[in-house]
Parts: sequence; structure tokens; C-alpha cells
Amino acid sequence: MLPGMNLTVIDHPLTRHYLSILRDETTPPEAFRAATKGLTYTLVLEATKRLPLAQHEIRTPLEPTVGYRIGEVVAIAVLRAGLGMLDAVLETIPHVRVGFAGVQRDEETATPQEYYAKLPDLSRATVLVLEPMLATGGSLAWAVSKAKESGATDITALCVVTAPEGVRRMYEEHPDVHIVAAAHDRELDDRYYIVPGLGDMGDRLFGTW
Ligand code: URA
Repeated sequence: MLPGMNLTVIDHPLTRHYLSILRDETTPPEAFRAATKGLTYTLVLEATKRLPLAQHEIRTPLEPTVGYRIGEVVAIAVLRAGLGMLDAVLETIPHVRVGFAGVQRDEETATPQEYYAKLPDLSRATVLVLEPMLATGGSLAWAVSKAKESGATDITALCVVTAPEGVRRMYEEHPDVHIVAAAHDRELDDRYYIVPGLGDMGDRLFGTW
């Protein structure tokens, strides 16, 4: 696999529509949260395209037929911005279990500082890591390492916007992890923000500026 082949950028009109609302600097937090939710539905559909299915027999009112059931799924929300994506995952995958990975980036060095981790056993689960802004890749690489320590072998990252630096780092450290994103942007600026990007995702979701 080459860098970039670990990344799928969704080319769907709804994804682009919601992403444009998120990029617009005039969007207030309530509309930002709604657009994050709408966009995340489209990421979930793509990311779960190859979920394993178990077959079982069911009866329609007319006759027996084959039914299908998805297996175990765990979502890991990378705090705090990953929380903005969680509702859409809870609504589309009703029996999903949820882990949390708390990581804060040091604004000077952009290195991840861990402050919380609570993950279920992941050895039999398909794992979806919710990390909206893949900038340097430090937080996602750390969250994926935590997931692997808890037994995860089947991991997909759901991102809103990615930068080349983050995708490259994920390819180098975790080439087995597939990234599904709404956009792949140009670069990072000197404060490690993605440009054009959408600003600070956590601040824009929760109105903290
Ligand atoms: N985190 C954000 O919220 N925005 C960026 O552009 C990069 C990291």
C-alpha cells in the first residue's frame, strides 16, 4: 500500500453540502453540530460497507427467508471533538459500544498529551475511531495504539478533514488502518491547523472561543 491508499475521500453531494456548512466561518455552533451529525452519517455508511454479517433464518408474514445481522462494533470518540460525531454513530448502529480516548494537543509542539482512556475489550469488534481533524496525526496514531493494546485488529478512522502530514503518519505507523474522510486538504499552517480546514473543531462544536 502507498501513502494515500489508506484514505477514502467521500465524493457524495450530501457530504460536500455539510462540509461547506462546517467550513463557513459564519456557521454558529448549533448549525455546526447539526452539520457534523449529517456529515457523519455519510462517513458511517462508507466506513461500514464491509462489516461482517452473520446469516440467520427469519420469517416474513409470507415465508421463511434469510436475515442478516452485523457483528460487534465499537466506536472510540477521541475527546473532545470526536463527541460531535458520536450521535450519528449511535443512531445508525444501535448496539454500538463506545470507548473514549482523551488526548489534548500541546499547542506549542502539537504532540498529543493523554488525559483519559476508557475502552472495552476490542478483540472481536469492528472499531470505528472518531477523530474529525487529522492534522499531524499524533492524536489518531495514539488512539489507534490504545485500541490495538485493547485487542483491536479491524480499525477504521472516521475523519471530517485530513491533511497530507496526518495521512502519511498514519500510513507509516498504522498502515492497516483505513481512513474515511470528507476532505483531504492542502497542508498544515505554522500552528498545525489544517488549511483551508474549518478552524478548531472542538471550539466550533461547543462554542469555546
Ligand atoms: N484540530 C482542529 O480542530 N483543527 C485543525 O485544523 C487541526 C486540528
